[in-house]
Amino acid sequence: MTKDKKESKVRQEWGSRLGVILAVAGSAVGLGNFLRFPVQAAQNGGGAFMIPYFIALLLVGIPLMWIEWTIGRYGGGFGHGTAPGIFHSMHQKNRFIKYFGVIGMFGPIAIFLYYCYIESWLLGYIFYSITPTYIQALKAGKIADFFGNYINVTSILSPAYIFFIITFVLNFVILYYGIRGGIERVSRIAMPVLLLLGIIMVLRVLTLGFTPDTQTPYKVVDGLGFLWNPDFNALKDMKVWLAAAGQVFFTLSVGMGVIITYASYLKKENDVVLSGLTSAATNEFVEVIIGGSIVIPAAFAFFGPEKMVEIAKGGAFSLGFITMPMILEKIPLTVVFSFLWFLLLFLAGITSSISMLQPAIAFFEDEFNTSRKKAVFIIGVVTFILMQPAIFFIGKGVVDELDFWGGTFALVLFATFEVIMFAWVFGIDKAWDEVHKGAQMEVPKIYKFILKYITPLFLIFILVGWFIQQGIPFIMMKGVDAANKPFIIGTRIGLLVLLLVLVIMVKMAWRKYKNKDIR
Ligand code: PFF
Repeated sequence: MTKDKKESKVRQEWGSRLGVILAVAGSAVGLGNFLRFPVQAAQNGGGAFMIPYFIALLLVGIPLMWIEWTIGRYGGGFGHGTAPGIFHSMHQKNRFIKYFGVIGMFGPIAIFLYYCYIESWLLGYIFYSITPTYIQALKAGKIADFFGNYINVTSILSPAYIFFIITFVLNFVILYYGIRGGIERVSRIAMPVLLLLGIIMVLRVLTLGFTPDTQTPYKVVDGLGFLWNPDFNALKDMKVWLAAAGQVFFTLSVGMGVIITYASYLKKENDVVLSGLTSAATNEFVEVIIGGSIVIPAAFAFFGPEKMVEIAKGGAFSLGFITMPMILEKIPLTVVFSFLWFLLLFLAGITSSISMLQPAIAFFEDEFNTSRKKAVFIIGVVTFILMQPAIFFIGKGVVDELDFWGGTFALVLFATFEVIMFAWVFGIDKAWDEVHKGAQMEVPKIYKFILKYITPLFLIFILVGWFIQQGIPFIMMKGVDAANKPFIIGTRIGLLVLLLVLVIMVKMAWRKYKNKDIR
């Protein structure tokens, strides 16, 4: 603890360029691409959603990707892998700035607390999809009951709990092996497999054609039309903009603090422009091309437009665990495709969930000089305890609460802060030079203007609009069942404590730097 940065141990590094791109793409490609995206698109009018989506991608998503790769690599050069240290090294003059970085650890941890549990359902379903119980439930039209039973955990011996333990341990084993031996190695295998599985699923859906069981006059291409026929009217609707921008952040894993941590393990001379763009492009391919060509067109053909939108309103979980199985039941080789579907989602999930915890682990390693093993152990114990409410109180609003504070609130706030830090505090000219160090491609000049003015304004607009339209009603628990309120308040208190602990830890970590001119 008393050691200063110069004496501290050598930081880990990525093994190869492809490795880091696949790891970042692995973080980005997740359940968000296959479940959250179709739900958001369907709820917001399909083709109406895609225009704000692409605008947000170009004006905020990709810029943030470049910002995070750049400041991550920059902070890594000073031995910092998390936002508090990175912000500090970008502007040492202000000693409060590092506290804003806390949000960049808080957000991903909050998301992990529910995300890892959902991911474990997928492991459970990979297993169940080849068992007679599951198939019988499907045939009897009772898959919704099956799902209800599965997630109703009554004891630590319930199947869902056992699959949760396995998934949880798996996440930590990967993290234990570190950046290169764990995260990179897994991403290098999981990502190509995932792409292949995605393509298989798309081909299957696109060739559904006229399945005799289809009870609607619709075809798969009608579903594609729903997503791809633009509707410019929706540009006037603030709600659609909020949903589209929110989806762009969530799916790219930007505005969270995770990409900066991954980028902090780059070498100074490594390119960030082309690598950042490649990882974003990979994610977008998997989201709009693959993710957009499975659930939406299939559900459209099988259930028709009205029912599909209604299903989407039921949320991502019912889409993935009830609707998709029902569709797969109607096609030949049900068992094979069900298995592949859940395997695809599980691989997408695990490469994302590991990225959510790396910031917290890096924080211990970098700022407290803790060994990796110890850091993994500490974070393991803490997150294990914190995850229990999401498991045992499922359906009582805990998951929504975690998603709201971690996946929306923290995210938009952190993204706004990050871009202001980069373009205004660090300064756009210096920032532009930093982006281009070692770059293998030049960022189009127009982005200098975008980064300085458009991205921050867009974000502030989203932040304010979202807060008024959705934030306030959510915080006031509008329309919430009275019985769920204690769970929601409990979650909020828990999250507040987590935030405070992180703030205190940042304070403790920086005590050792006092009176030292160390970044
Ligand atoms: N991008 C991931 C997805 O689309 O599922 C989700 C995610 C990953 C959120 C990493 C937050 C995070 F820190």
